Order: sequence, then C-alpha cells, then structure tokens
Amino acid sequence: MGNLQHQVLEIGPGAGASLAYYPKDIHWIGIEPNPFMHPYLEREAQQRGLSNIQLLQGTAEDLPVEDESIDTVVSTHVLCSVRDLYRSLQEIKRILKPEGSFVFIEHVAGECGTWRRRVQDGIEPVWKNLFDNCHPNRETWKMLEQVELEVVNYYQFKLAFPVVSPHIAGRIRKKPLEMVQ
Ligand SMILES: C[S@@+](CC[C@H](N)C(=O)[O-])C[C@H]1O[C@@H](n2cnc3c(N)ncnc32)[C@H](O)[C@@H]1O
Repeated sequence: MGNLQHQVLEIGPGAGASLAYYPKDIHWIGIEPNPFMHPYLEREAQQRGLSNIQLLQGTAEDLPVEDESIDTVVSTHVLCSVRDLYRSLQEIKRILKPEGSFVFIEHVAGECGTWRRRVQDGIEPVWKNLFDNCHPNRETWKMLEQVELEVVNYYQFKLAFPVVSPHIAGRIRKKPLEMVQ
C-alpha cells in the first residue's frame, strides 16, 4: 500500500493496523461503524505521521461519499462481516473514480466438500455471534466476480488457522467506461 496516492478510503479500519503501510501524505478517509475504534484510529494516525485523515461513521453498504470521488478503496478482513456483501461491493464501485482500484485481503470459505468447509459451515451460526458478524464460510470471490470490476492482481493463500482460511488478496479496478457493456 506504500505506493497508493491521493484519496484513499478504507472500510472497517478497526484500530488502524493498516495505517503503518500508507504514505504519510495520503488523504485517508476511514469508514468505521464502531465509534469506540475512532480514538484508537486517531492516535494511530498521529503516531504514524498521517495528518490528512478523515474519520466518518457509516457502513460499507452506504458509503457517505460522492460518486467517482475516490482513487483507491481498501478493505482488510471486513467483507466477511458486512451485512450485505453485494451492496457493499456496489457502493465501492460507485465511489471509485474511473480506473480507480479496490485493494483487499479477506478470509473466505474453504473449498466445498473439504473438512475445512464442513467446520466453517458448522461453526458459522455461533462464530458470527461471537465475532461481530464474521462469516467464516463466505464465498466472497463469487460476489467479486458479479460486480463487474476488472481483475488486476489476485491470489489465494492459506494460513495455519483453518476456520479463517483460505485468504484472498488482490487489486481489482473499475472498468474504464468504454469496457462497460
Ligand atoms: C475483523 S475487523 C478488521 C479491522 C481492520 N480492517 C484490520 O484488518 O485490522 C472488522 C472491522 O469491520 C468493521 N465493520 C463491520 N461491519 C462493517 C460494515 N458493514 N461496514 C464497514 N465496516 C464494518 C468492524 O467495525 C471492524 O472494525
């Protein structure tokens, strides 16, 4: 994320673990629905030397910014928790400038038929209540394919903790107008 420029909007930044990775001169907008996180975010931004920050209350499903106003939207471990994934992705697409990017790292559902997936499906009703609506078995990649963004870079990797694995990470771009049919 060190090469991001201009207007960056991060959904669900939590306590600000990502702030360490941004260039200091960035205009960063955080959309964090949990107001208890805001003082942590402000402190983290100050410690990291980010002075041009804006913290807004809102949700990924209803982003309080204008159409085509943002260069990059960032999400790390948030799409598992949003109430409406499709709407959130539509909102991200709406606010991105033409050819703006969505950069993400998310844990997703394991492959169907594997023991990992069976555990995720079984534990989901309890897990989401314990962990702030986190769905361990969300097929986020399918929804990403449906919103008609252009994949620039995308890969999958596994971590040792099976419930919140595998992960997907990537950068997808809003299609230039001439590519939209
Ligand atoms: C697992 S935490 C991840 C925090 C941070 N992104 C990180 O990687 O450390 C999930 C975050 O998503 C936020 N969140 C939950 N639902 C959301 C929504 N609908 N829109 C935006 N953020 C949401 C939560 O408040 C929380 O800060």
